[in-house]
Amino acid sequence: MSLSNFQEDTRVLENKNYKGDYFCITFHAPTISPSVTPGQFVHLRLPNSPDLLLRRPFSIYDVDTELSTLSLIYKVIGKGSKALSQVSAGTTVNLLGPLGNGFPPANKEKLIIIVAGGYGCASTFLVAKTAVNPGCCILGARTRDDILVENEFKQTGFEVNITTNDGSYGHKGIVTDVLQQKLNGLPYNQSASIYACGPDAMLKAVGRLALKHHAESYLSFDMPMCCGVGACFTCVIKIKADSRDGWEYVRTCYNGPVFEANDVFFE
Ligand SMILES: Cc1cc2nc3c(=O)[nH]c(=O)nc-3n(C[C@H](O)[C@H](O)[C@H](O)COP(=O)(O)OP(=O)(O)OC[C@H]3O[C@@H](n4cnc5c(N)ncnc54)[C@H](O)[C@@H]3O)c2cc1C
Ligand code: FES
Repeated sequence: MSLSNFQEDTRVLENKNYKGDYFCITFHAPTISPSVTPGQFVHLRLPNSPDLLLRRPFSIYDVDTELSTLSLIYKVIGKGSKALSQVSAGTTVNLLGPLGNGFPPANKEKLIIIVAGGYGCASTFLVAKTAVNPGCCILGARTRDDILVENEFKQTGFEVNITTNDGSYGHKGIVTDVLQQKLNGLPYNQSASIYACGPDAMLKAVGRLALKHHAESYLSFDMPMCCGVGACFTCVIKIKADSRDGWEYVRTCYNGPVFEANDVFFE
């Protein structure tokens, strides 16, 4: 595999403030956009930022194959994302991608349940957009200001459930409260496929609940990354293995970022 196959100098078409600290950026990316599958990501080199050498990983939120565009939703949390928020339309940005395994295709017989914490909605939106049978999604965040793309999910036909920790919008509590209800309410002859992305603690709770209910679940881990292509081992998580300790490290950029809950070694 040659990395040059996956690199593209894209043109920024739009970079707009979505709300609060969140932005949505759209690139003209005719090389990368046709081969994107849900849950994959790009590794982005920040333009005009010589002090920010490392690329930054972002999930591919949406693609338009007719227009050859791809979009990201990102939160400004540090120097790189701040610099990205200042990039204007017309700027050339180098993207490496699409990277990662992404989510497996949904089984038509099962109810799809998407669970997204904060910007985890970016990694899971294409699951909803490409699903043959709409299911339900649970968008969770600390507060109302961190609930994103609710209407976009609704437009896919998915039932949308909202949870906020502070109760400022939707159900006061956490995503697993609603997930538990959904799993408890499944008819005896129906099973669910869970697709989740969000903070580690959320993924752990979702994975445990899914295992308890014998539901298959796919968890997308956003570990900090340096190279993004399997060379540096900064992005590892523990996976069950036949080793002395019962686990081994795997690279989330290369073997993931999506892993089946059953394979993850939860401590
Ligand atoms: C596969 C993948 C997909 C991602 N998708 C998105 C997305 O769709 N939208 C989005 O807003 N962000 C996403 N992220 C996170 C994004 O890459 C980081 O927010 C970004 O790299 C931060 O860069 P920065 O220079 O602004 O912050 P830095 O200055 O590098 O970091 C600021 C603070 O954030 C922490 N941090 C950095 N990266 C992460 C991380 N991955 N997880 C937790 N804490 C981190 C740092 O430790 C530090 O405390 C994704 C990460 C991965 C690995
Ligand atoms: S980021 Fe370098 S191996 Fe994953």
